[in-house]
Amino acid sequence: MKYPTVLGVNIDHVATIRQARGTTYPDLLEAVKEIEKTGAEAITIHLREDRRHIQDMDVPAVMNYTSRRLNLELAATQEMVDIALAVKPSDCCIVPEKREELTTEGGLDVIGQFDRIRSATRQLGEAGVRVSLFIEPDIKHIDKAKEIGAPVIELHTGAYADQATPEGEQHEFERVLKAAEYADSIGIHVNAGHGLHYTNTRQIADISVIRELNIGHAIVARALFVGLKQATEEMLAQIV
Ligand code: PXP
Repeated sequence: MKYPTVLGVNIDHVATIRQARGTTYPDLLEAVKEIEKTGAEAITIHLREDRRHIQDMDVPAVMNYTSRRLNLELAATQEMVDIALAVKPSDCCIVPEKREELTTEGGLDVIGQFDRIRSATRQLGEAGVRVSLFIEPDIKHIDKAKEIGAPVIELHTGAYADQATPEGEQHEFERVLKAAEYADSIGIHVNAGHGLHYTNTRQIADISVIRELNIGHAIVARALFVGLKQATEEMLAQIV
């Protein structure tokens, strides 16, 4: 049986354009409104420690405005946990963060940062937030996520998306497939995301145990030419 796969649209890069000039536009809430005209199920934002795109005030603003689930991505720091606890989004995805990176490069170090990630997961979980851990498609990391007590994982599809050859893509796809099936078999809810585009999403969406895909850059880039509503609908057509 295949679980239905839903789409979370990451709107960080709408804020990237706004922050490039320090303007009040493009308005994040207008972006949410366009996305809500589609069947996308969640809105995803990442409050980075360097505040390069999403700003603190955006978090309650989007949370209060959207009628969809809000998935807040955050680093496992007490500052970020406190911000999340003040807003209590339905979902939080804990991600690794390095200031100098262009985007989230690689999954969480669930082995080396075990205590810190477990503390963040517990605090958020006790507040009723469903916590997801963004991890590499690796059995060892899935076992650690289970030990931490996370009900959800998001498998990092960056390595899959970055492959330049069909053989490389197939190899990375199989890693994602194996990891997803293993996680589901031990009772973890499996999401995936990063680097997914209009040409490589279907294969991941077709994995029977994948519940949700979080996609941002490709949709916001496509929206320049067709608008956010159509760009989201075109991605949904790859998923359902
Ligand atoms: N999932 C997580 C945890 C992320 O950090 C990101 C990037 O912010 C995404 C999904 C979306 O990646 P992309 O913008 O490449 O679609």
